[in-house]
Amino acid sequence: MKFFIDTANLAQIQEAEDFGILDGVTTNPSLMAKEGITGVKNVHEHYKAICKIVEGKPVSAEVISTDFKGMVKEGEKLAKLADNIVIKIPMIKDGIKALSYFYKKGIPTNCTLVFSAGQAILAAKAGATMVSPFIGRIDDTTWDGMKLIEDIAEIYAIQGFETEILAASIRNGKHIVDAAMAGTDIVTCPLSSIMGLLNHPLTDIGLAKFLADHKKASKGKK
Ligand code: E4P
Repeated sequence: MKFFIDTANLAQIQEAEDFGILDGVTTNPSLMAKEGITGVKNVHEHYKAICKIVEGKPVSAEVISTDFKGMVKEGEKLAKLADNIVIKIPMIKDGIKALSYFYKKGIPTNCTLVFSAGQAILAAKAGATMVSPFIGRIDDTTWDGMKLIEDIAEIYAIQGFETEILAASIRNGKHIVDAAMAGTDIVTCPLSSIMGLLNHPLTDIGLAKFLADHKKASKGKK
């Protein structure tokens, strides 16, 4: 399973990259706005900076247009920013047309805002490189986000679809572990959720004991 970080914060992307387990980055317009990045020129420069930190690893850059022509124009410009850009396209009618267009051009895509297995089938049929079901946002509505990951994984396996499942809207470490068990190919999560996987009280207690025993045994010895 691959680990992507879901942020536009350069310091956090660098920290995750230095941690040594990072496989890619996802952003969205809300995450860009959170970092105060506005205006096409600044947005493009920011994507270039992200792509440089994680050279060679996929970086999802989302289009703002909602019509086919606009998505194609925007996506083609984004694709030219760096070799590792993936065009992120919303799950709407013109988005499906754009996914198919970019598939034929050999430009990688990530179909975002996926909330049903039917939508995931359409994205795969259109040739999306990745499909992003939003686990957390489904859970927020009291439906079961993880069940959707299981269903898509089963459908893609039965049908032989090559689109990768990118479990998104991850809120905690349990989401990551459950998505891994459900058969996702990728999880994209905030740095806090990735780092949260480190924590277990028995690790802390065990390490403290090992170090204390070592100190005791070493006392008086040079
Ligand atoms: C995925 O690509 C999205 O950017 C993201 O996971 C959305 O997560 P949220 O529901 O926490 O905003």
